[in-house]
Amino acid sequence: MNSVGGRKEYYERIFERHLDEGWDAAPGKEVLLRALATELSAGRLGSSERLIDLGCGTGFLLSRIRSEVCDSFELFGVDFADTAIAKGKELHPSLQLFCEDASATHFDSEYFSILISYGSMEHFPDPAQAAHEVARLLQPQGLFLMMIPTLGVYRVDRDDEGWYEDLTGQPQWNLKRETWEAHFRRNGLRLWDSARAKESGALKPGVFYFGYRS
Ligand SMILES: C[S@@+](CC[C@H](N)C(=O)[O-])C[C@H]1O[C@@H](n2cnc3c(N)ncnc32)[C@H](O)[C@@H]1O
Repeated sequence: MNSVGGRKEYYERIFERHLDEGWDAAPGKEVLLRALATELSAGRLGSSERLIDLGCGTGFLLSRIRSEVCDSFELFGVDFADTAIAKGKELHPSLQLFCEDASATHFDSEYFSILISYGSMEHFPDPAQAAHEVARLLQPQGLFLMMIPTLGVYRVDRDDEGWYEDLTGQPQWNLKRETWEAHFRRNGLRLWDSARAKESGALKPGVFYFGYRS
């Protein structure tokens, strides 16, 4: 089991030194935006959905959702780094940002109709608890769009995502796709085939976990 403490300090330093700014250009963010836009234009989402981003950093992806997908969604973000949330509130005052552990939030159950998370869940203290919180926060039929990298992402010599599993959780969880899938399924989260992420432009579809809560 990991504690939140050491990881929080690590991220506070990243945000204090502005080292997070390079994350904004991560190509996978387009994949989430496209998937969301597709669901909206197919009529499976309305214009007043309530959406949360778990591990939102300074709220950059949320602000892109507002400007590029739908300007009337109600947008919430949670991050445990005080520095990120303080910056986010300054940069994007219309977002509702909260500083807390995203795997144990204060929100009522079934408060959200959409949940997104990009490159964050692998840092949460416990994958089983993280999956449970995703399911708890979502309404039945709520949409989730998550990107959870494995170590393969950081290795240029491997592009077959999910080949590696390290159960120490240090410095982050590196779980095989099938392990994350089992956590999600156990909590009633029904995953789409990863071909759907490919249709949204994913170069590495194996790191995208998209679907609906049953
Ligand atoms: C690699 S960054 C990604 C940030 C953002 N989603 C993006 O794509 O730019 C991981 C984020 O997760 C946050 N984080 C890690 N563990 C967390 C936890 N237990 N609760 C809330 N936020 C957490 C970090 O502070 C950091 O902002």
